[in-house]
Amino acid sequence: MLEGRVRRISGPIVRATGLGEAGLFDVVEVGEKRIIGEVIRLERDEAVIQVYEDDTGLQIGASASSTGRPLSVMLGPGLIGTIYDGIQRPLEALFKQSGAFMASGAREDPLDGKKKWPFVPNPELAEKLAHGETVKAAPGLVLGTVKETESIICKIMVPPGIQRGNLSELIPAGDVLRDDIVARTDLGETIPLSQWWPVRIPRPSAERLSPDQPLVTGQRVIDVFFPLSKGGTAAIPGGFGTGKTMTQHAVAKWCDADVIIYIGCGERGNEMTDVLTEFPHLIDPRSGRSLMERTILIANTSNMPVAAREVSIYTGVTLAEFYRDMGYHVAIMADSTSRWAEALRELSGRMEEMPAEEGFPAYLPTRLAEFYERAGRVRTLSGGEGSVSIIGAVSPPGGDFSEPVTQHTKRFIRCFWALDRDLANARHYPAISWIDSYSEYAEEVQPWWEKVNAQWAVARQQALDLLKKEQRLAEIVRLIGPDALPDDQRLILLVADIIKNGFLQQNSFDDVDMYCVPAKQVRLLELIMEFYERSQACIKQGAPLIKVSALTAAAVPLRERLSRLKSEVKNEDDAALTEFEQAMRSALDELERSYRSNAGGASFKERRTGGPI
Ligand SMILES: Nc1ncnc2c1ncn2[C@@H]1O[C@H](COP(=O)(O)OP(=O)(O)OP(=O)(O)O)[C@@H](O)[C@H]1O
Ligand SMILES: [Mg+2]
Repeated sequence: MLEGRVRRISGPIVRATGLGEAGLFDVVEVGEKRIIGEVIRLERDEAVIQVYEDDTGLQIGASASSTGRPLSVMLGPGLIGTIYDGIQRPLEALFKQSGAFMASGAREDPLDGKKKWPFVPNPELAEKLAHGETVKAAPGLVLGTVKETESIICKIMVPPGIQRGNLSELIPAGDVLRDDIVARTDLGETIPLSQWWPVRIPRPSAERLSPDQPLVTGQRVIDVFFPLSKGGTAAIPGGFGTGKTMTQHAVAKWCDADVIIYIGCGERGNEMTDVLTEFPHLIDPRSGRSLMERTILIANTSNMPVAAREVSIYTGVTLAEFYRDMGYHVAIMADSTSRWAEALRELSGRMEEMPAEEGFPAYLPTRLAEFYERAGRVRTLSGGEGSVSIIGAVSPPGGDFSEPVTQHTKRFIRCFWALDRDLANARHYPAISWIDSYSEYAEEVQPWWEKVNAQWAVARQQALDLLKKEQRLAEIVRLIGPDALPDDQRLILLVADIIKNGFLQQNSFDDVDMYCVPAKQVRLLELIMEFYERSQACIKQGAPLIKVSALTAAAVPLRERLSRLKSEVKNEDDAALTEFEQAMRSALDELERSYRSNAGGASFKERRTGGPI
């Protein structure tokens, strides 16, 4: 161990002499309490160390010893369901040790060393070894499995670092501990149940795959308008209180990922408390079991050390990649990357670096890129398929999207869910703007959606176009009022309202509508667009708008029914939607018939198909 002395302290940045031979990014233990830090710069004999714990009371001359290894996380069964801080200290275990206020230097292993796990060797592999076949210890080779929770089977694999000898031993089925050896190679290497991996280095995979599978979130504005892919990247920028956290919670609860990693970085403690109190009680709609059985939480709230916040997102992605490598789809929520960038800014300032835009360091874009580039859908080393999707909240000061974090983030993400202050004020949630948001995955996921409903792309484009038209009309209405518009344009205003209320708005507190299955999502939009097209045809034939708005089904105006179907009709209740569809069609048929003569006798269907039917 290399030992140096603290020469200068500036908050979380400590300079120590005598560490010139330490490696960049080596972990250093500082002072009597042995608080953890990382070498982030080397200048001749001096190391600049960023410490991850509160260093109040640390004195000049204190010891600083390098451990000679980079900051790493422990990977193995037991991660799921645990709450960690930014450097993978298990908070519950620390709470038991030292109470609610974590002491600096408090230590607890990331994974419980005494917990027994039921190991089941890979039967094919065991068979081969029993017959004396040579099996290469290739990285990614599945040695066996451990049932980690009811929802997650943890695969124990040959880690990427091994020197590719042949397997010489595989233990039989039975209970194993964290550090027990499960296999050996003829080169004398041992493979324990758990392994370490440096957080700043992406874990290898065999091949990148195209992001053509959507990450279904059950939120219509996302899934239909601005879809995210498995392995994709998305940003949720929004001013104070516009719903970033709520949107991330909704996605975490309902998306079809197998594992969720929720990184609370730099947000208020009470938001983390919400997650901690809410998630264990939430039921995973697919397995019917607690959501915590597939969730890992990383909490680094605003009152915790800033350096640990900086590293928390790397800790999060490394854990995600570990499960990706087993063939799982993992979704990461980071709330908020702006607080993370602020940590970077504070550390950079303490190091007296030359600031770039708004005081952020010049390497802010590089760091953001390094984070988002670790997302992706891949062929794993074991030959399976896994993905890491990243959804980062961005909180631009004053809701101004031209600030550096939002702008740089935009360069590295492909899905932009812009939260709109006016929508949030109008309590239109999720306040995702249909004008400012975009998704570059729409074309890639189209084939998947068209298997659910062939109308997905058509209905989506029609609705987006209609909303754009409505935006232009709204300007005119502001100047001269709606009465001056012709009926076909007023119909656009009417239908735009239905799309907003009946499709885009989705209340996270509504028992039925908090989650919407893919089939229902497209059906709802299809019904609204059919209503629009057919009403437009009637208006062209001379029907006044007032007659269209007066159309009813079961004595309730169609426009109201269309706006309420989302919460009136349960997710699987296709029959109710079909029943409504029939009622809507017969109301429209009747209106069409009564104005038919005006248009020379051709019905809507006839004109559409080009002849009488
Ligand atoms: N989908 C939703 N359904 C119902 N209410 C919502 C929804 N999204 C947001 N809200 C309302 O908006 C409030 C603020 O949301 P949230 O805390 O997510 O905002 P935020 O952008 O994370 O704020 P901050 O900048 O403070 O972190 C919530 O308490 C809730 O009342
Ligand atoms: Mg928030």
